[in-house]
Amino acid sequence: MSINELETKLKAANQVQILSAYNRADDETKKELMNQIERINFSQVADLYETTKHEVNFNNDVIEAIPYVEKDKLSEEEYNKYLKLGEDEIKAGRYSVVTMAGGQGTRLGHKGPKGTFDIGLDSHKSIFEILIDSLKEESQKYNVTIPWYIMTSKENNEDTVKFFEKNNYFGYDKDSIKFFQQGKLPMVDESGKILINEKGLIKEASDGHGGIFQSMKRNGITDDMNKKGIKWAFVGPVDNVLVKMVDPILLGLMIEQNASGGGKSTVKANPSEKVGVFCKRNGKPGVVEYTEISKEMAERVDENGQLVFGESHINCNMFSVKAIEEVANKNLPYHIAHKKASYIDENGNLIVPEKPNAYKFESFIFDAFDMLDDMAILRVKREEEFAPVKNAEGTDSPETARKLYENYKNNK
Ligand code: UD1
Repeated sequence: MSINELETKLKAANQVQILSAYNRADDETKKELMNQIERINFSQVADLYETTKHEVNFNNDVIEAIPYVEKDKLSEEEYNKYLKLGEDEIKAGRYSVVTMAGGQGTRLGHKGPKGTFDIGLDSHKSIFEILIDSLKEESQKYNVTIPWYIMTSKENNEDTVKFFEKNNYFGYDKDSIKFFQQGKLPMVDESGKILINEKGLIKEASDGHGGIFQSMKRNGITDDMNKKGIKWAFVGPVDNVLVKMVDPILLGLMIEQNASGGGKSTVKANPSEKVGVFCKRNGKPGVVEYTEISKEMAERVDENGQLVFGESHINCNMFSVKAIEEVANKNLPYHIAHKKASYIDENGNLIVPEKPNAYKFESFIFDAFDMLDDMAILRVKREEEFAPVKNAEGTDSPETARKLYENYKNNK
């Protein structure tokens, strides 16, 4: 792109502050900035900024409770049927695991990828090693090596890969672990102007884990799965040390219900617990996120005194590879986060704001649920499958996760 074209493009997009940054930059930064400008879809950024002016509104949506199956209440016959359906797929090498590890772990206050965090077990194993222990156990049980795909982000990819290399992949088959990066989007200020970061480049942030479907396609992960004959992928978080990544019952239930997606729920601990809840939205599966649920909805109870929206989404979901490919061809909506973001202003000065000054756009994995033909929901026991590591202290902290993990292991 010539300088003239650059100028025309940025003027048309009403983003001339990027031009000032370009003029101030050294040759190498100019090159990087130009790459960003060529890659970024400016009209998409303008559309996203427009959405910040409207409130999230569920008024026209019909939101209802979602039907689910409780694992603990299955009859022996049902349990064995689902188990066989699921195990047959796993043993045949048609099952894989994807871990979303692109988050920043800001609330935890850990510098570095969340998976490298030591929750304080006597063994001092990192979260990644805790996860790999369970993968090893399951692989041995089914006499297969379960392929593991790890989604990182621009910010933590290098550190994540180095961590695995340094630890010799914790003894897992190196070729069965693949890393791929999630996408990113520019951050804008409150008037829609794209921010410039400390390096003089466009300030970009991860575009949320909803980008996982497109990232899997773009990075050849779905191709790799197809080549290996993989039909199913469990997609789970890095921040739950009890995540059960290999679950034949959920897979069997999906197969039995002919659903291309499956999700695990636990009973919501209390109306204000910071979890999204599964629902049916206009007849399709969905999640109402904890940041978006109204107090009335969160507290609504049925005739038995149970929360109507009480099936917590614990971010442990499963998809057919075919469904992942289909979703990857569609665009998910974005959610807006109002954040504090330092930036370089038009005069080249670093501005460090004291209050939120910028918008970050993220899509969420569960926004894809209504694109699936159907979703099987399996309610599981919290003490067996949900020990989140979110905050440095208090609820969902390393301390609570460690206790849950140790209790589970001691009672197994
Ligand atoms: C999340 C869920 C919420 C659920 C809760 C259960 C979202 C938006 N909400 O909330 O419905 O009830 O977990 O614990 O996920 N991640 C990426 N890339 C990103 C952002 C996140 O890979 O761009 C990963 C994180 O590393 C983590 C997981 O996704 O493994 C969850 O992310 P986080 O943003 O911490 O979600 P919560 O707000 O805790």
